[in-house]
Amino acid sequence: MGMRIRIFDTPHDAGIHVASLAERVILQNQRPVLGLATGSTPIQFYHALINLHKSGLDLADVVTINLDEYASLSPHDAQSYHFYMNKYFFEHVNVAPENIHIPNGIASDLAKECLRYDAIVQRNPIDFQVVGIGMNGHIGFNEPNDLLLSRTHVVALKNETIESNARFFDDISRVPQYAITMGVQSILQAKQIVLMAFGMDKSCIVQETVLGGVRTDVPASVLQLHHDVTVVLDKESASGLMDKRGNLSTQQTS
Ligand code: F6R
Repeated sequence: MGMRIRIFDTPHDAGIHVASLAERVILQNQRPVLGLATGSTPIQFYHALINLHKSGLDLADVVTINLDEYASLSPHDAQSYHFYMNKYFFEHVNVAPENIHIPNGIASDLAKECLRYDAIVQRNPIDFQVVGIGMNGHIGFNEPNDLLLSRTHVVALKNETIESNARFFDDISRVPQYAITMGVQSILQAKQIVLMAFGMDKSCIVQETVLGGVRTDVPASVLQLHHDVTVVLDKESASGLMDKRGNLSTQQTS
């Protein structure tokens, strides 16, 4: 099956859809494992999942595994992905603290931390993986490159990622230059993947991801190789996928 495309009027509506997909997985598994992302894109998804929790969805048996974390930021740092996850999700739901996994960006030995994290991913096969997409096509922090790494690794962030993420920091000089990220194979091992993207700024990269070939300089395009991917968009981010009549195009570009 090709990538399933779902286009919504607003990120809010899209977030509700992704939360309902997650709910199904949570209800179908005794120990559901959710792979989670940060950034501006999934905020409405977390909001909707929190609402489902408040209306009765129990998350006590859910295990979560986050994609990535900045190297050098402590979990208490307001810009860290630990902090983000607490603020936008964990503080509002009943996921057990021992079931929450996020790479430790301040581990004294980052290489060892990557191995520790890989072992967690292997022990807890991900049922439902949410990913956003960088303007340069990165997923997690797997940046465009000649080769993509399979497993959890330390990555030097590209200038464009540092520039794009500077919006969350007081000053661009404060954006960490390195991060820990799950590798592409770890992402592809998830049983089900949902790629979310919103806004006109993402329309070109969404088009390349969905309609282009599989290329290491568009890391998200590897998702074409997975059998169960849903691409959840708003009208703006989907605009590059439409033909002149406003229908969804299936025409691959080279
Ligand atoms: C975050 C992550 C990144 C973001 C991507 C898009 O955990 O892995 O790949 O998903 O940079 O970020 P936003 O959503 O802020 O545009």
